[in-house]
Amino acid sequence: MTAPSEYGTRQRATEVLADAARASLSAPSVFNTQPWRWRITGDTAALYADPARKLDATDPDGRLLLLSCGTALHHARVALAAAGYQPQVVRQPDTDPHLLALVTIGEPGRPDPDAQRLADAIPRRRTDRRAYSERTVPEDVLAQLRRAVEAQGAYLHVVRRDQMPMLATSAGRAADAEQQDPAYRAELEQWTHRPEGSGDGVPAATAVRPTARRVPVRDYAPDGGAGLDPGEGFDLGAAFVVLFGLTDRPADVLRGGEALSALLLSATAAGLATAPLSDTIEVDWPRHLLRELLAGVGEPYLVVRLGYLDQAEPLPAAPRRTATDVIEIVE
Ligand SMILES: Cc1cc2nc3c(=O)[nH]c(=O)nc-3n(C[C@H](O)[C@H](O)[C@H](O)COP(=O)(O)O)c2cc1C
Repeated sequence: MTAPSEYGTRQRATEVLADAARASLSAPSVFNTQPWRWRITGDTAALYADPARKLDATDPDGRLLLLSCGTALHHARVALAAAGYQPQVVRQPDTDPHLLALVTIGEPGRPDPDAQRLADAIPRRRTDRRAYSERTVPEDVLAQLRRAVEAQGAYLHVVRRDQMPMLATSAGRAADAEQQDPAYRAELEQWTHRPEGSGDGVPAATAVRPTARRVPVRDYAPDGGAGLDPGEGFDLGAAFVVLFGLTDRPADVLRGGEALSALLLSATAAGLATAPLSDTIEVDWPRHLLRELLAGVGEPYLVVRLGYLDQAEPLPAAPRRTATDVIEIVE
């Protein structure tokens, strides 16, 4: 039988883990699919991938799904560390391919101020698809972001000026190829026209109207109706970074997702606007161009645009699934 004090500790652990899982609801995901779920038992939270939310046409290998689940895992870890818990994380603990991680907590210690800074950025972070201004991203901020990514076991390449045409070609080629693919178009339609109350998908209010850009931005409303005016910034001062890892094995890609979250939250905390671009890695040839851009040292996971949006209107938040949909607490 469980003694009353043990029972209280266990219940407290469950509440803390449920709070962390709730923080992960705000994590970014491809097409805002939010393809994860949590199962919490006592002092352990299990993170599962939800294969029903995989994008079969856009992401047949499930790399973007895994990256997305990695962002949820990192959001939860940040919330725990900010609350004073140092979580133990066992990634891919057994042969169930959908069980991605077990997160366990012990006694609380001192809240971590760096984690608190990132936790504060969770509700403020947005994917901002508008054009960024000519204000450049300082070198020391880029160095800090690189350290944040490396601390999670992935790498960051800042695209050099002479490499920009290759990146633009990669993104342009990917957009053309996908627009010609009926299966991609059907998937895009599905995730941009969600049933009322689904709490997921990319609404027109967060998509940007197409215009000439330094690097093309995914067109979420090819038939018109995108809500956002791109503005006059032309991305002149934007930095484009490639998040990459040594392999595209699931264990590395999951960590890549954790690193993506660390990058986006650290950038938000530093006052930057952020926008992931993954179409460049969804199509073979554009992905090959990105590998070339990395001089063959790693597997590109995703490109992120970083920059400043001076005097812009606040962005509407993308919808989110509810805690009841995503988190199961096993008594
Ligand atoms: C793995 C991954 C890939 C993404 N790819 C793109 C992309 O190609 N273009 C884009 O505009 N946003 C992309 N996003 C951003 C998502 O669309 C965004 O996170 C989601 O719609 C929720 O909106 P929020 O980030 O503002 O909360 C990606 C995000 C993730 C995690």
